[in-house]
Amino acid sequence: MSRIENLKCTESAIIIDALSIINTNGKGIIFVVDDSNKLLGIMTDGDIRRALLNNAKLNESIKEFYNNSFTYATTVESAIEKLKKLNHRVQILPVIDENFILVDYFQKETLYQIPISAPSLRGNEFKYLVDAFLSTWISSTGSYIEIFEANFAAFCEAKHGVAVSNGTVAIHLALKALGIGRGDEVIVPDLTFAATINTVFHSEATPVIVDVEEDSWCIDPKEIEKAITPKTKAIIPVHLYGQPCDMDAIMAIAKKHNLYVIEDCAEAHGAMYNGKKVGSIGHIGCFSFFANKVITTGEGGMCTTNDFKLMELMKVMRDHGMNKSRKYYHEVIGFNYRMTNLQAAIGVAQLERIDEFLQQRIALEQEYRTKLSTSNIIEFQRNDLGKRQKITWLVSILVKDNYKDLLVQKLKEKGIDVRPFFISLGEMEIYTPYVFSNTVSIRLSKTGLNLPTSLETTERVIDTIQEVVQEIEGALIK
Ligand SMILES: Cc1ncc(COP(=O)(O)O)c(C=O)c1O
Repeated sequence: MSRIENLKCTESAIIIDALSIINTNGKGIIFVVDDSNKLLGIMTDGDIRRALLNNAKLNESIKEFYNNSFTYATTVESAIEKLKKLNHRVQILPVIDENFILVDYFQKETLYQIPISAPSLRGNEFKYLVDAFLSTWISSTGSYIEIFEANFAAFCEAKHGVAVSNGTVAIHLALKALGIGRGDEVIVPDLTFAATINTVFHSEATPVIVDVEEDSWCIDPKEIEKAITPKTKAIIPVHLYGQPCDMDAIMAIAKKHNLYVIEDCAEAHGAMYNGKKVGSIGHIGCFSFFANKVITTGEGGMCTTNDFKLMELMKVMRDHGMNKSRKYYHEVIGFNYRMTNLQAAIGVAQLERIDEFLQQRIALEQEYRTKLSTSNIIEFQRNDLGKRQKITWLVSILVKDNYKDLLVQKLKEKGIDVRPFFISLGEMEIYTPYVFSNTVSIRLSKTGLNLPTSLETTERVIDTIQEVVQEIEGALIK
């Protein structure tokens, strides 16, 4: 039975029927409909009380007493729009379709705002943060920074970690430390967050945008090879949505053409390629610890490397290019890209739980896969690509046949936040001149969607998504 059923009554009902329905639904209201379910009016327990006080009889028709001037919502209105219609008097809204047919009701309690992701800060985060605070080392000196760098590098099975203020500057620092600048070309995938390409511009180098693979959604080594020119200096493979790139092929190309590889690992903490953790394979790995990432420091990032000299140079460059043993002597042009001890304190605590977080995310993805396994319009990100061991960052799907917008809209209605894939870089005017190839990427970008993936993503959320998908598919069959 749909949840609206015990709130409905027809115009032919008598007052005692209306009272009985209200008594059962416990909501203090009924919606009056005609035989075809068209909404005629509403009647509250207050309306009934007033009618009885005016000598109405319990067996009298409700016709004279219900309200036909009332507030309602429509199926196309968003949850936010509906919320705006509620006030101390109107606490429940009938929801009608375009033909005025009653299809649902809306009230604040039934609305849940489900974020796409939410950090979990219930371990030692607060304890270490307070400890860092009380130490008064709240800027970028302090014990937590070194601990965080050492522990994160160890997690990535890389030799060194250089903590920085966010994932974007991690890539910029990597490019600068590798000496990339004006006149150089850097190959980036078309399907990525803009930070990947923007940092190439920040370095005054020229980006070359190439297409991604159909199966992995990551940069296509064949396209990299085709796009190489004598000016090419580096490749930035992005381990997109937790999926590792084809690192054997990419490293082989880099070796053949003497190129640097900067892994953009912002979305792939812990992912592995051929048994090796991402961030330990290329010359430098760049991570983000933004609040929606696998672990967070609020804002924050890290460069990982196995190269001692690169690590030393990045540490100097992130600190204004200042010589480590001679204060105020600047040996290179640097930046202020330092992470604070407060951020690092949170990072150390988050890292203590990273395995637990990754497990929880996998379990969540599994639940989505099980619940949506019969769907004909949904295709999950591949998790069976040979040497690649992906992690679950955000559960990622492709929605077939242009149903993405409908799905997004219907989930928004239910207060569930989902995210479309990144827009193909080449589809944005400022980046179009730098496209080498992007056909697959454009298609994926149009159909791809990320689903809520965090501890806030309860079974109820996944059930609701399942219901909405079934509703769309049901309508297709009809
Ligand atoms: C692929 C990719 N690269 C780089 C970044 C930049 O990281 P941050 O937001 O920490 O600057 C992000 C962040 O979302 C990202 O998804």
